[in-house]
Amino acid sequence: AAMSGTQLARDRKEQRQAEAKAAADEAEKPDIATQWNDPMADPNLPKFASDMRKNRLQSRPEDMPEWKKYVQPPDAMMGKRTDKTIREQRESLPVFHFRKQLVTAVRENQILIVVGETGSGKTTQLTQYLAEAGFTNQGIIGCTQPRRVAAVSVAKRVAEEVGCNLGDAVGYTIRFEDKTSPATRIKYMTDGMLLREILMDQELKRYSIIMLDEAHERTISTDVLFALLKLTIKRRPELKIIVTSATLDAEKFSNYFNKCPIFTIPGRTFPVEILYSREPESDYLDSALETVMQIHIAEPPGDILLFLTGQEEIDTSCEVLFERMKVLGPKVPELIILPIYSALPSEQQSRIFEPAPPGKRKVVIATNIAETSITIDHIYYVVDPGFVKQNAYDPKLGMDSLVVTPISQAQANQRAGRAGRTGPGKCFRLYTEAAYQSEMLPTPIPEIQRQNLAHTILMLKAMGINDLLHFDFMDPPPINTMLTALEELYALSALDDEGLLTRLGRKMADFPMEPSLSKVLLASVSLQCSDEMLSIVAMLNIQQVFTRPKDKQEQADKKKAKFHDPHGDHLTLLNVYNSWSRNSFSNPWCHENFIHARQMKRAKDVRDQIVKIMQRYRHPIVSCGAHTQKVRQALCSGYFRNAARKDPQEGYKTLIESTPVYLHPSSALFGKQAEWVIYHDLILTTKEYMHATTSIEPKWLVDAAPTFFKVAPSDRLSKRKKQERIQPLYNKWAGEDDWRLSAQRRGGRG
Ligand code: CDP
Ligand code: MG
Repeated sequence: AAMSGTQLARDRKEQRQAEAKAAADEAEKPDIATQWNDPMADPNLPKFASDMRKNRLQSRPEDMPEWKKYVQPPDAMMGKRTDKTIREQRESLPVFHFRKQLVTAVRENQILIVVGETGSGKTTQLTQYLAEAGFTNQGIIGCTQPRRVAAVSVAKRVAEEVGCNLGDAVGYTIRFEDKTSPATRIKYMTDGMLLREILMDQELKRYSIIMLDEAHERTISTDVLFALLKLTIKRRPELKIIVTSATLDAEKFSNYFNKCPIFTIPGRTFPVEILYSREPESDYLDSALETVMQIHIAEPPGDILLFLTGQEEIDTSCEVLFERMKVLGPKVPELIILPIYSALPSEQQSRIFEPAPPGKRKVVIATNIAETSITIDHIYYVVDPGFVKQNAYDPKLGMDSLVVTPISQAQANQRAGRAGRTGPGKCFRLYTEAAYQSEMLPTPIPEIQRQNLAHTILMLKAMGINDLLHFDFMDPPPINTMLTALEELYALSALDDEGLLTRLGRKMADFPMEPSLSKVLLASVSLQCSDEMLSIVAMLNIQQVFTRPKDKQEQADKKKAKFHDPHGDHLTLLNVYNSWSRNSFSNPWCHENFIHARQMKRAKDVRDQIVKIMQRYRHPIVSCGAHTQKVRQALCSGYFRNAARKDPQEGYKTLIESTPVYLHPSSALFGKQAEWVIYHDLILTTKEYMHATTSIEPKWLVDAAPTFFKVAPSDRLSKRKKQERIQPLYNKWAGEDDWRLSAQRRGGRG
């Protein structure tokens, strides 16, 4: 086995050198990303962060590749979870010894910060202790999670421990999915869902306890909940707030929450040996996989946890590892390869918790979800390339993007800690010690400082919070980001010119989606095409509609072309949904047509949920039949910012900033000559690609956002040209006072 390992290492090295050279060539070319707020793209930053982009993985839509069939057989090949009974497991957790003190501390304090190592039992046990201590007699216990996956998996686990069906005493609520009932006493939910509940009931009367879990993640929703709950507890002295954190932020949290006490659960950890790369890695992905193979071949038993940045990267890596293991053959012990990321169906997620059978080793390849949100036992080896994919927002361009960025030191230590839970472990850092010391931030930047706030501000406005400058944020967002959000809401007519919520804005806030999308839905009601728009909005919510198996690409493309609408992708999505619906939502139909059955089912669930919201607020659901032009007009009312015009040279240029953007080859408009288009969002791979693109007429933009676009005054232009000359009033407010931030409330909420 050792021989094959060396051989493997040599082969990889050669290939790596070749790839490194290709990367260097690639790096010469200017990257569009340099215009963004992207630390990866800054040529002046040290090497550590410089060579990521060549590694961008192309999406590989495949229904069920071989490695997946292998790692997810229908019958469980994995070992039994553990020999311990549930009770023994519960009692073996560190938090168990502090049960009494914790319950007392909650009784005696309105707010309590709880700090403890990941895996000590905060999320699964605290709620149960408090329920058992009688706190659910006056109301229910709500526990928020920053991630959907965590909310679901934790609720499942706790239901199992309590011995009830999921959705009875223990349930969960995530966006577009509600697994609770009137019987639910412990409710796990995403922080975003609790935020929506506050919108409807600012006192949260149903709850006796709110636990803001994983607060160190500092998502926007958690940050906003911090401030809102501080207001709520003044009105409800009996409401208890618990804030949990895995890291060093406790003091800061305590200061923010009126100097409340901190309860620390002593950890139970073993030393973790940290190994750094001697030189910066030229290809973190390849060296990560190589490291995993080396561990498997050379190191003593113990499972491996590898941190990567996203679904595609993880799937591809699973496939590559599987292929490499296959090449090595039966000489090498079996390696069980398991992916984990948010979009993975929950049946498959739960497999990562099962221990590997004796004599085999398991490698879990995870996004940073495995940093703190979920705990996998028996991990002895952590492989940490040092990157995370996170939201970045450029307020100048008004664009959100997912960017691969270096992690912070706190995150690096958290990752390493995952190896020391069951025994002494090892952490392989695929970056140099110097990079750790000098190039990583001590703690991550809170999301509220790096993301578009339009949706959040709309919700705050809908709660009657107008003075955002004096809102009690723990870390306030940059003024520029707030201004762009206000501007965006103003352009969407959600705010009036004094910055107050309009009637339309209030309606938009009822939908759990970005403001552009809720605007589009409401516009579709006025334009009488809401039935169509509901399907489109639901379809935009799913990640991958079409499959394209490697050996059947041509066939798949042909099938896909049948759904293409000459006006673009939104209507193409509608065609797919409608055909599926006409075929009784059938699975075989999906397979025949190279469409993701599971994703379609999700689209249908999402659609059903939005239909409920539409009905609750009495928005009529009407079909426009063949008059689908209305659908395109309605899209303009929300996505006018994402308008682009064909560039005489190549591709398109956005109207806002003249940024070059491109039609994706998979777009229904590809090869067509659409002059004006709007797109849903941008995907940065090798180029800035428009995702979901639809052709429009420029005058619809003026109709949709008269404050945003104007027709250029020009006496000499022909009538047709006049219609087409559109200029954004982009800098309308540049340099003006931030009067909209502190506008006084007058009268009602509009
Ligand atoms: O919240 P904290 O990180 O302190 O720990 P927890 O999530 O309550 O997890 C406590 C233990 O429950 C972990 O060590 C896992 O073994 C187990 N657990 C599980 O088996 N399955 C889950 N979905 C979640 C937790
Ligand atoms: Mg937890």
